[in-house]
Amino acid sequence: MLDKVSLHCSSQHYMAFAHLLAVLFSLAVVRQSDAALTKRVACADGIHTATNEACCALFPVMDDIQANLFDGGECGEDVHESLRLTFHDAIGFSFTEGGGGADGSIIIFSDIETNFHANIGIDEIVEEQKPFIARHNITPGDFIQFAGAVGVSNCPGAPQLEFLLGRPPATAPSPDLLVPEPFDTVTSIIARFADAGFNSSEIIALLSSHTVAAADHVDPTIPGTPFDSTPFTFDTQIFVEVQLRGTLFPGTGGNQGEVESPLEGELRLQSDSSLARDSRTNCDWQSFVGEQVKMQTQFKAAMSKLAVLGQDVSQMVDCSEVIPVPPPPVTLEAFLPAGLDMNDIEQACATAAFPILTAQPGPVTSVAPVPPS
Ligand code: HEM
Ligand SMILES: *[C@@H]1O[C@H](CO)[C@@H](O)[C@H](O)[C@H]1NC(C)=O
Repeated sequence: MLDKVSLHCSSQHYMAFAHLLAVLFSLAVVRQSDAALTKRVACADGIHTATNEACCALFPVMDDIQANLFDGGECGEDVHESLRLTFHDAIGFSFTEGGGGADGSIIIFSDIETNFHANIGIDEIVEEQKPFIARHNITPGDFIQFAGAVGVSNCPGAPQLEFLLGRPPATAPSPDLLVPEPFDTVTSIIARFADAGFNSSEIIALLSSHTVAAADHVDPTIPGTPFDSTPFTFDTQIFVEVQLRGTLFPGTGGNQGEVESPLEGELRLQSDSSLARDSRTNCDWQSFVGEQVKMQTQFKAAMSKLAVLGQDVSQMVDCSEVIPVPPPPVTLEAFLPAGLDMNDIEQACATAAFPILTAQPGPVTSVAPVPPS
């Protein structure tokens, strides 16, 4: 065909045609290398495929934790605790104090780390996770981050988190005092995160996690008390509800790290309250209200950093494709809890007004606790 064209066309047309061929050829080369990159291998289970064979080992782990740790794929207490554990293992990293970060030290050296004051209650999920690690060929550091990412995928509205495989077992426990406490000042929280490589915007992005969270140990008389009214949905309500004016409900208060909350049955951490109001972080806090996609994007990015703190990423395999795509949230709109209005918002950001929200219908209600699992 080329011959025919060259015979019948002027040289100018031929040059144009040759150029087109060259473009087509280079496109074909690009496409071919793309195909090589995304070539999938069949896993030995005969069911799954993966871009990297090493990721195949994660499917049985996922099936096991979904069925036997997360009660068939819920976004319940064990998911919440597993997400908290990703943080408490990883934040054991400091440019100045040492610590191996997301290395599984909180499980390998659980005798030491679960006794740290900031890790109160973490022993529960540590002991629950241990048998899963024992029956699969996976390091504790990988398991903690994998369980967190799979667990979060059960929460409607969550982003699909990244997961990189290949954390070697920790060789030493984390130093104490690296995990922030709810009674810490904003200055000390910002300093602690900076010493692990996170800026103030990333702190707030990470605190999206408190949208699927409850406290058992801050106020031990009311275990399972959630931080927002929708603890099973990864929505932006945490950023709305922490900004509401607080009330001291009977039987609450007086605990270290706890401040007045807006609704009966909801618990507000002093740290969340302060970060929502401090001039260094309040506009970041408010910026997530009703901004589901922004929250997902920034939480995902910050979690990707957290999950590999202290690790050599060049030695790890990207197995993110194994993490399920989370279901979308039932309601995308941020709202005010029933019976409240915009006067209940304690405006803190000086440069932008809080988004106008509508209250859920009906009278003021209380928030139900997260059942223990
Ligand atoms: C300033 C930083 C932070 C402080 C002071 C803090 C403090 C706390 C406290 C006191 C609790 C309640 C524990 C209990 O009594 O059972 C809690 C729960 C939780 N935290 Fe944080 N946290 C911080 C950051 C984070 C981050 C970065 C994540 C994850 C990325 C996270 C995830 C969670 C989750 C999911 C829970 C709920 C656990 C459950 O429901 O069982 N937190 N946090
Ligand atoms: C914090 O770091 C993120 C990620 O590197 C960056 O996009 C953001 O602009 C930074 N924010 C501040 C306040 O420095």
